[in-house]
Amino acid sequence: RPGKPSSSPFCKGQSRGGVEDGPERIRAAGLQRRLQQLGCAVKDYGNLTFEDMSPDEPMGLLKSVRAVGAANQKLSEAVRAVKEDGHTAVMLGGDHSLAIGSIHGHSAAVGELSVVWVDAHADINTPLTTYTGNIHGQPVSYLLHELRSKVPVLPNFSWLKPCVSAADVVFIGLRDVDPAEHYILKMLGVKTFSMSEVDQLGVARVMEETCDYLSARGKKPIHLSYDIDAIDPSVAPATGTPVVGGLTYREGVYITEHLCQTGLLSAVDLVEVNPLRGQTEEDVRSTVSTAVDLLLGCFGRVREGNHLPDYRLP
Ligand code: ARG
Ligand code: MN
Ligand code: MN
Ligand code: MN
Repeated sequence: RPGKPSSSPFCKGQSRGGVEDGPERIRAAGLQRRLQQLGCAVKDYGNLTFEDMSPDEPMGLLKSVRAVGAANQKLSEAVRAVKEDGHTAVMLGGDHSLAIGSIHGHSAAVGELSVVWVDAHADINTPLTTYTGNIHGQPVSYLLHELRSKVPVLPNFSWLKPCVSAADVVFIGLRDVDPAEHYILKMLGVKTFSMSEVDQLGVARVMEETCDYLSARGKKPIHLSYDIDAIDPSVAPATGTPVVGGLTYREGVYITEHLCQTGLLSAVDLVEVNPLRGQTEEDVRSTVSTAVDLLLGCFGRVREGNHLPDYRLP
């Protein structure tokens, strides 16, 4: 089960510095070694480097359009190469605008995808509905076939073609959705499990229904896009847009365990870990260690314990 971290230290999809340091902190917490202990063959593709795009004047409200477009084009190529090498791709962000390139590159390599988007936010604003101007609040709208006519072509985005159908996406953990985003989700009939549904059904049923819903449309490779702010800020506070009332650590890990079991997990994004947003070093440590545990869950770590197939009792 090869797992392949590549990472994208990139912050321009939002306005707070620091999120570009997420990947180094996640590496320093021993991600590679711990994946190897699980039996994964891991190759670290290293950090992507991004050119300075300045001047990158805002377009209306939209910030850093050229930088975000160019970074995602490069990331798309990188993820496509990892998938064409036959591996499971791991993209460490960086901010959630990077899901544009990650999902696009994944789809370029394998075709139609199921997308599981775990997030406090829906990130489905269009360039015309955003009121923050941050592209990390918009990636889903850029990717959906159904929203093609609602997303103008932007500088450095002409390479991007929508590649995901609204019916192939499930959101989990929503609790901070803008009115336009809510309208879009309802208009397109997107499957969502907000925190209300997590409360009502419990995480086990949410995952059962998620997988049943997606597999009814064919067993497509799954792209998991995990925003660390889906997890409650008491556990994962070091992120740019924390929202109270989130997933517990256990619910968050359960989602990864369940998706791993499907055997269909084909690429994972872990984004929005921002070491500068923690109040204390303990805040950062707790956020990073949660991120690592989510990734381990994606690659087969289970809480009952694991052993390698060739284990021999001494
Ligand atoms: N809805 C808000 C916006 O459009 C917040 C988005 C937060 N996104 C994130 N990836 N943390 O800006
Ligand atoms: Mn979010
Ligand atoms: Mn299932
Ligand atoms: Mn997000």
